[in-house]
Amino acid sequence: MSDAITLTIDEVEVTGRKGQTILQAADDAGLYIPRLCWVKKLKPGATCRLCTVMVNNRPVAACTQPITEGMIVLHDTEPLNRYRRNLIDMMFVEGNHMCPVCEKSGNCELQALAYRFGITAPQYPYLFPRRPVDASHPDVFLDQNRCIQCGRCVRASQELDGKSVFQFFGRGAQKKLGVNAEARLADTNLNLTDEALNSCPVGALLRKRVGYAIPVGRRLYDLQPIGSEIEAKARRAANRK
Ligand code: FES
Repeated sequence: MSDAITLTIDEVEVTGRKGQTILQAADDAGLYIPRLCWVKKLKPGATCRLCTVMVNNRPVAACTQPITEGMIVLHDTEPLNRYRRNLIDMMFVEGNHMCPVCEKSGNCELQALAYRFGITAPQYPYLFPRRPVDASHPDVFLDQNRCIQCGRCVRASQELDGKSVFQFFGRGAQKKLGVNAEARLADTNLNLTDEALNSCPVGALLRKRVGYAIPVGRRLYDLQPIGSEIEAKARRAANRK
């Protein structure tokens, strides 16, 4: 029996495989659905909700919703893009994101999404929360000002590094990323080679002494918008026809 499943995303017929999520089937078809907490190597956390799409008039997270035969998905619509823009806006004002002086600028997924959605300034007032920077570790900074609580470092530490260096504490507006140690990052067993460090989409986890090795202006999202590597697949397929 074939594992192929046919669905429609924004009126484009897409063939996915049994067990895939909407996001994975869309990626394979060259349709980019924005995401922040999802990353290929990790189990989905479904916390950021940027990947929200509509199925049968109901919002679902594309990163966790399995595809089914005949499913009709709406993704690139004005209301959904407005919702996504709002979420991105809120992430900016909830933290302290100083892009022009951030080492992650140009490689930051949050910044790249803001550019993709044409956001030049948030529409909500900045909250300017007081957040600490933990520079105790010999090789790594943890800057809470830039953390968007996507949970990627928490999952990467557990699933890929076999450790439990990071975890969340508190609830609601008090929720924050913490380290699994008495007090400081230096007290954990975090190593420079840990995947948890590579998993951060923003500049909350940064390696020391390697800043600006690639100049701003020549970084990943300086050269191409986020999502364009996925959309290029669809263009290549269209050219082959
Ligand atoms: Fe799906 Fe974050 S990417 S909820």
